[in-house]
Amino acid sequence: MLSLRAVARPARRQFVAAAPRAVFSVTFQNQRFYSSKVAKFTGTKDSSGNYPVSIIEGDGIGPEISQAVKDIFAAAKTPISWEPVDVTPRLVDGKTTIPSETIESIQRNKVALKGPLATPIGKGHVSLNLTLRRTFNLFANLRPCRSIAGYETPYDNVDTVLIRENTEGEYSGIEHVVVDGVVQSIKLITREASERVLRFAFQQAQEIGRKKVRVVHKATIMKMSDGLFLNVAKEIAKEYPDIEFDAELLDNTCLKMTTDPTPYNDKVLVMPNLYGDILSDMCAGLIGGLGLTPSGNIGDECSIFEAVHGSAPDIAGKGLANPTALLLSSLMMLRHMELNEFADKIEKATFATLAEGKSLTGDLGGKAKTHEYAAAIISKL
Ligand code: NAI
Repeated sequence: MLSLRAVARPARRQFVAAAPRAVFSVTFQNQRFYSSKVAKFTGTKDSSGNYPVSIIEGDGIGPEISQAVKDIFAAAKTPISWEPVDVTPRLVDGKTTIPSETIESIQRNKVALKGPLATPIGKGHVSLNLTLRRTFNLFANLRPCRSIAGYETPYDNVDTVLIRENTEGEYSGIEHVVVDGVVQSIKLITREASERVLRFAFQQAQEIGRKKVRVVHKATIMKMSDGLFLNVAKEIAKEYPDIEFDAELLDNTCLKMTTDPTPYNDKVLVMPNLYGDILSDMCAGLIGGLGLTPSGNIGDECSIFEAVHGSAPDIAGKGLANPTALLLSSLMMLRHMELNEFADKIEKATFATLAEGKSLTGDLGGKAKTHEYAAAIISKL
């Protein structure tokens, strides 16, 4: 029995008013196969034939590493026009908000590249990164970690892909004092958010040619919350019969991955928020730290790609910053925009420059300035 039906997606919460989107699903022998791609890029070219991309250069080393990315993109003739936007926080009625022009730019362009943002220290400020995630309902955090040839680390064959649920779980922000000296923090897991991130994980596996999706969980202890995530995963797995599905306890994953990461090279790992936060940094450690790690915050209407390191105020303005993480994030962005040809070209030149080892920045043991490293990549395009 074959039937086609439209499933209405609920409008996003927060500031962005979006119309419900229809997802068509085909039911065949009681299995549903979704035809719609989760988080598909829907941006369009401008009159000059380029895709406009919002760029948040960020604080500290942000402008320097952004400039390196812009120079490399220009040299590679990437069909992108940059729209600089400012996210300097405004405190309105005690809540951190970002300027409406910025929200409009990202909504219009559907995609943004973001440098690191320094979180102002003081009462009343929510992390700007969290504000962006909530504003655009960026429900999945995609973190690939691949060993870089030429940069020696304890493991030289790491190639992990991790997806973290980005909106709820332990980071729901629901905490209260029960009585003096006793506090309670609520871990919220919903079927809707779990379905969304799990479906994205299966589709990501298909897209990057991995045959296995593994859920990382603690359903043995958190029977209801992680139990729901795991059960939803088992249901969603039926929609993707070409992908093998299994599950692993978080502590096991940590132990096995740090013993030998290579069995994880053929899988996409997907997990609730906190586990993803910790495990993704652990994977970054396996390839030499946060300075080389890209990431994508994926949403249905917009996605924001960013390096995971901070604004490095200690080296800001000195031309010492390594732009690799932001550059690799920008390549994830190009692939999200289906500009794979440009991503492949820049990636090849970047890895060749790193492997050659002649023009590395100080954090990788070299002496090159940010712009000299960028120039070395450009010379290999
Ligand atoms: P950090 O990542 O900025 O710096 C840690 C160390 O790594 C420093 O020694 C720094 O010089 C070095 N480093 C970081 N990125 C580098 C790069 N690209 N090239 C060379 N060296 C690099 O972390 P920290 O100091 O804890 O945070 C500084 C500020 O950044 C804080 O305000 C924090 O809130 C913010 N932050 C922002 C993030 C984001 O926007 N995604 C993430 C983490 C921190």
